[in-house]
Amino acid sequence: MRHTPPPRTYRVKSFGCQMNVYDGERMAELLAEQGISPAPEGEEADLVVLNTCHIREKAAEKVYSDIGRLRREDGTAPLIAVAGCVAQAEGEEIMARAPSVSMVVGPQAYHRLPAMIADAVEGRRVVDTDMPAETKFDMLPARRKVGPSAFLTVQEGCDKFCTYCVVPYTRGAEVSRPFNDLVTEAHRLVEAGAREITLLGQNVNAWRDESNRGLEKLIEVLAAIPELARIRYTTSHPNDMTEGLIEAHRDVEKLMPFLHLPVQAGNDRVLKAMNRSHTVDSYLRILDRVRAARPDIALSGDFIVGFPGESDAEFEDTLKLVEQVGYAQCFSFKYSPRPGTPAATMDGQVPAAVMDERLQRLQGALNASQLAFNRHSVGTRCSVLVERQGKYPGQWLGKSPWLQSVHFTADAAIGDLVEVELVEAGANSLSGRLVQ
Ligand code: 5AD
Ligand code: SF4
Repeated sequence: MRHTPPPRTYRVKSFGCQMNVYDGERMAELLAEQGISPAPEGEEADLVVLNTCHIREKAAEKVYSDIGRLRREDGTAPLIAVAGCVAQAEGEEIMARAPSVSMVVGPQAYHRLPAMIADAVEGRRVVDTDMPAETKFDMLPARRKVGPSAFLTVQEGCDKFCTYCVVPYTRGAEVSRPFNDLVTEAHRLVEAGAREITLLGQNVNAWRDESNRGLEKLIEVLAAIPELARIRYTTSHPNDMTEGLIEAHRDVEKLMPFLHLPVQAGNDRVLKAMNRSHTVDSYLRILDRVRAARPDIALSGDFIVGFPGESDAEFEDTLKLVEQVGYAQCFSFKYSPRPGTPAATMDGQVPAAVMDERLQRLQGALNASQLAFNRHSVGTRCSVLVERQGKYPGQWLGKSPWLQSVHFTADAAIGDLVEVELVEAGANSLSGRLVQ
């Protein structure tokens, strides 16, 4: 490797889940603190961080084509750091396969980026996929300026070991951040401009503090911050949906009526093979309790089609479940065998064409469900948190309490909480009219 001048500009590109978006923002803040500035729109950066996702095959393969695309016409490239879950899983392999990469840094070690950059500038390539004892959160700079809707990572990792999933390997065991740190960071976020905080975790509802209090306690304390208007949390596992958290949906007004609770499949044999440790029925009973606590709650989930051995009839059960629940919005994926996971070597891998067809049918059902949910909201008055400007002059975009995208035209500004009547519904957004 050659010596390079210290980078003056950076760009962070994040892929995958919201946790990665959060990590990407924190890396950007860290670089800014080092005196490196964001590269202006349309200009090449001296340092590019690819913050990668390993959850499905396509996401992982994308890294190599992205690295290739960073090459300049004269054969040189910017300083490249690969971060995120692909970095964690394939650190050495990336170094071998992509000579233009000079840094590989895992999700638990990115606070060490400044030292890695110093090495890279001197021509040394570095891989750091440690899960160090010191937590990155203590080493990162305080957050100064955030948008109206901000993320706060409260929990990382997963102990559930669903048989298809790499997360327990790439993100490690479940770890909860300490209560006081979170309350302090939430106050900082509010001072920096946040009006809504989404508590993040791979199993966010498994968060526990040092004296074993659950997420509802944290929600209750954050709800007492006067300038904070809204609280959300994602993503949850059915087995950690405690009575206390369900009651918070009834008792805490600032907790938004939205629950992302992945179920993955609608058939008990498939759920067992996935090691989900809940059944269709136990999942539905949780939803009943949540609905009893908060009747207007919007429900969301994740689905996988074509898990090894899934028969046509078993897939039909997933469609039945979708029909029965009436989801507000969902994510759905084709099963992707991940190296090192138990499902990757199971019998009965489903042919690609069958998966395509199942995904199409499922997405048709989910879109219909989402449209029905949105249509049902027409006529309701609700608050909208304004997040950005729309396409047209005077138009603004924001989110309803049920996480629907709402656009409206009025005198407003980013960060405003406005009262809107929902007047027209599409599958992906609604239009609203400002209530005076
Ligand atoms: N193949 C397809 N989808 C997957 N997910 C996780 N692992 C896989 C995989 N191997 C999906 C699950 C999970 C979401 C984040 O990604 O639905 O809830
Ligand atoms: Fe993956 Fe299952 Fe853990 Fe979710 S609960 S992160 S799907 S292992």
